[in-house]
Amino acid sequence: LAYRATATGQDLHLEGVRLADLARTHGTPLFVYSQQAMLDALAAYQRGLASRLAQGKARICYALKANSSLAILQLFARAGCGFDIVSGGELERVLAAGGDPARVIFSGVGKTRAEMRQALNAGQGAGIGCFNVESEAELDVLNEVATALGKVAPVSIRVNPDVDAKTHPYISTGLKGNKFGIAHERAVAVYQHAARLPGLKVVGIDCHIGSQITEERPYLDALERVLDLVEAIEAAGIPLHHIDLGGGLGIDYHGDTPPAADALWHKLLARVDARGHADKAIFIEPGRSLVGNAGVCLTEVLYLKPGEQKNFCIVDAAMNDLPRPAMYEAYHQIVPLAPREPAQAGGAVNYEVVGPICESGDWLGHDRALSVQAGDQLAVLSAGAYCMSMASNYNTRGRAAEVLVQGDQAILIRQRESAADSFRHDILL
Ligand code: LLP
Repeated sequence: LAYRATATGQDLHLEGVRLADLARTHGTPLFVYSQQAMLDALAAYQRGLASRLAQGKARICYALKANSSLAILQLFARAGCGFDIVSGGELERVLAAGGDPARVIFSGVGKTRAEMRQALNAGQGAGIGCFNVESEAELDVLNEVATALGKVAPVSIRVNPDVDAKTHPYISTGLKGNKFGIAHERAVAVYQHAARLPGLKVVGIDCHIGSQITEERPYLDALERVLDLVEAIEAAGIPLHHIDLGGGLGIDYHGDTPPAADALWHKLLARVDARGHADKAIFIEPGRSLVGNAGVCLTEVLYLKPGEQKNFCIVDAAMNDLPRPAMYEAYHQIVPLAPREPAQAGGAVNYEVVGPICESGDWLGHDRALSVQAGDQLAVLSAGAYCMSMASNYNTRGRAAEVLVQGDQAILIRQRESAADSFRHDILL
């Protein structure tokens, strides 16, 4: 993402494509992603896990909840990724995009029997790679479902290492008070129970401590706790084939300084090996860090509304397109596609950047200094993760279109939703 000089002034480009051209062709709000940025983010993980990948003992399972558009899944599938899913719907997406079910792991605290059957039957009956089971009750249900189908479900148990990921409470998942995983103290007993169930085959151990983690410490702490359990479980006679260390690595939204994926994984693998587990396969489930900074959301300024206390910049993107500010008070940078001289726009003014939805919570940025006029276009940055995948039709707003940039090519990867699309399943009296 960079400003480049053009005949009309400075213009924001993503790879070789001028974003204002995409806004004109496809309209706004519009999500635009850089393929290269996604592949670069993946390459950092591949470098970090290189020693294991070379032996076929590592699997990068993209957590598609971050962005589940089919073309993006296709890109990661072609790059050799597996997928971390949390619903039967996500499994269908992976299959529709050509993903390999054998490389799918299924996370989540509330898998239904129907979803279990769907996952066990995927891949012409060969089933998915692994179920990450989150409770004792789920173990028993999965055992029942698998036995009824005459299958054996591969399982990992998600353990809760009780470490503080030091992130927003809504996206922190590894603490005792969270609904996720099995308590450290119960883990060995639960593994013993799982090992006795005929419809299950214990293959690994799993943890995921939270999201938008910007320090390496929580990873190192969680790893030690998980390795303690690996040793205890194996001492109880249950061999483990893989260790799944989840996702969660943060990105730079606004001066955040998360560790680089390659350096972090070098360090974590060194620790795994030092503790004598060089034979274990390593699985990871990154989402945000693969796509977050590869995407922007383009939006047009509809109105400027000066107020006594605040000035509002009303844009055509809203909380239904970009729910993170409203949900987590998240910060996304907002920049003009073609910056104006402050004098030309009447000086830089501090604005509340808000959308058209009828709620005060519909804001995209507080107190942003912008030199803009109605009709100008803005880019909301770091919008590749947990934006489109969390978008809704609130206020009967169709979801935005999406474009993938490859060098100087731009490919429409999702059409803009019409109002009719959004009420297609409504039934009149
Ligand atoms: N694995 C599991 C079991 C997860 O629950 C998650 C995310 C991931 C992997 C991927 O985590 P990541 O690498 O993306 O941090 N909507 C929130 C984030 C929710 C994350 C939920 N779980 C946001 O917009 O910040």
